[in-house]
Amino acid sequence: MAENEKVAIVTGGARGIGKEICRELLAMGMTVTAVDLKAELLDKLPGELGNPGAKLQTAVCDVTDSDNFSKLIEDVAEKHGRLDVLVNNAGITRDNIVLQLTDDDWDLVLKVNLKSAFIGTRAAGKIMMRQRSGSIVYMSSYSGLEGNRGQANYAASKAGMLGLMKSTAKELAKRSVRCNAVCPGFIQTDMTDVLPQQAKDMAMEQIPMQRFGKPSDIAKAVAFLASDSSAYITGQTLSVDGGMHT
Ligand code: NAI
Repeated sequence: MAENEKVAIVTGGARGIGKEICRELLAMGMTVTAVDLKAELLDKLPGELGNPGAKLQTAVCDVTDSDNFSKLIEDVAEKHGRLDVLVNNAGITRDNIVLQLTDDDWDLVLKVNLKSAFIGTRAAGKIMMRQRSGSIVYMSSYSGLEGNRGQANYAASKAGMLGLMKSTAKELAKRSVRCNAVCPGFIQTDMTDVLPQQAKDMAMEQIPMQRFGKPSDIAKAVAFLASDSSAYITGQTLSVDGGMHT
């Protein structure tokens, strides 16, 4: 399947890293559906991305809503006759030290970051297994590999995504459906802009390349894993973090 005939879904596609992933996949000629909670941001997306070939679609959907998110994936596949790429990118933080974490903040982060990826995997996986091809990419994190003070819930969700990814990779490989994860380090987006300067300074000290990442740094790694350039790669975790995790 030529890259420009592929059909992709990107969750959390309205801003930040997800938006850049949409841009990158569109540049490869893919038909892309950006899924997000935020209708007002999705409305602006075609203008912001230029919508080459009018191949960008948007869909308002809460990815924790199992029925709606699953149906959305089925609808996209039905409309375009196939589904080649799912990027499980939507994610949130609710940071606090573990001794003060509330049940609600634990549950919410696990639901948005991890359960949504499971829901997406199950729905897309069925379509891709029938099709005998596909690539599912999981947006994990450096925190999921190493843990991070103040992020026990987030780190657990991101480590959980790696377990989900590796298990699914083993189950789906026989029909050439691939699953891989990207672990960003510190990337400049709205999610990290809100951190106090002291936290940013401490993060910078840990980055061998001495710069924060850009959303496009992550999007290029996702594009590689989404494409046939990585046709023989599955079950892998790719760190994109300026050298933090080695
Ligand atoms: P962001 O906050 O700028 O964008 C996340 C998007 O996900 C938002 O548009 C938001 O509306 C959407 N979203 C949140 N909950 C949703 C839901 N229930 N249903 C549908 N959409 C939902 O975040 P950013 O920085 O672009 O992060 C994207 C992914 O990369 C996240 O999974 C994050 O955990 C991960 N990541 C980010 C890092 C960073 O330094 N920015 C580092 C490591 C991982």
